[in-house]
Amino acid sequence: MSPPRKVYVYGAQGHGKVVAELLTAAGDEVVGFIDDGLPAGTPTLHSQVLGGFAALRDSPGALVALGIGANQVRERIAIRLLEAGHQLATVLAPSAIISPSASIGAGTVAMAGVVVNAEARVGRGVILNTGSIVEHECVVSDFAHLSPGAVLGGQARVGRRTHIGLNASVIHLGSVGDDVTVGAGACVVRPIDSGQTVVGVPARPIVKRT
Ligand SMILES: CC(C)(COP(=O)(O)OP(=O)(O)OC[C@H]1O[C@@H](n2cnc3c(N)ncnc32)[C@H](O)[C@@H]1OP(=O)(O)O)[C@@H](O)C(=O)NCCC(=O)NCCS
Repeated sequence: MSPPRKVYVYGAQGHGKVVAELLTAAGDEVVGFIDDGLPAGTPTLHSQVLGGFAALRDSPGALVALGIGANQVRERIAIRLLEAGHQLATVLAPSAIISPSASIGAGTVAMAGVVVNAEARVGRGVILNTGSIVEHECVVSDFAHLSPGAVLGGQARVGRRTHIGLNASVIHLGSVGDDVTVGAGACVVRPIDSGQTVVGVPARPIVKRT
């Protein structure tokens, strides 16, 4: 068994708390939370906020888990951490099932009950939320988020920073561009261009009443 890692969690809100509990469940040590929006000393779970980004100044090469749900913010923080010489912690729940032929990028979090099947490629800083499924040979790009219960069929592709909503699905061979939001419960059956918000079954661009 590998020795416990000492990991900072960036983000002390709800998602950060889940990430911290996953780390503890995996036998790692949570050093504390980093949060740019909360005062140092704010109690969080069984730990506390140590400060904002500057709190890592005296910990060169710190191992940091990304506990931020918003995809663009998570990407920005990850880039800043890497530029400062820190490392991104990959966090895999003990109950996540990851194929030995799949690849998982640094800073990605796979929560309880996740399944990643053969030869899937999951990028950096991705959130595979509770119970989501990435089928064989899928590609999930950096800083995407699969919400709880989301399912990707075989060889589906999900773009950078794209958010797949609660219980939404992308059929096999489906493709979703960058910076897309797929609404909760939607089913993607046709390619979705970058930048769109789509909802429904089959998923179509959202229409808002004016
Ligand atoms: C798709 C989504 C982003 C739209 O949010 P929004 O831009 O604020 O849109 P609104 O709530 O103003 O809704 C606009 C219209 O779309 C409909 N709509 C919203 N979300 C929908 C969805 N998931 N499926 C079908 N219709 C939806 C609304 O009913 C509304 O229709 P109406 O004007 O006829 O009443 C959001 O509803 C959603 O599903 N987000 C995903 C949430 C999620 O999975 N979070 C996971 C956290 S871990």
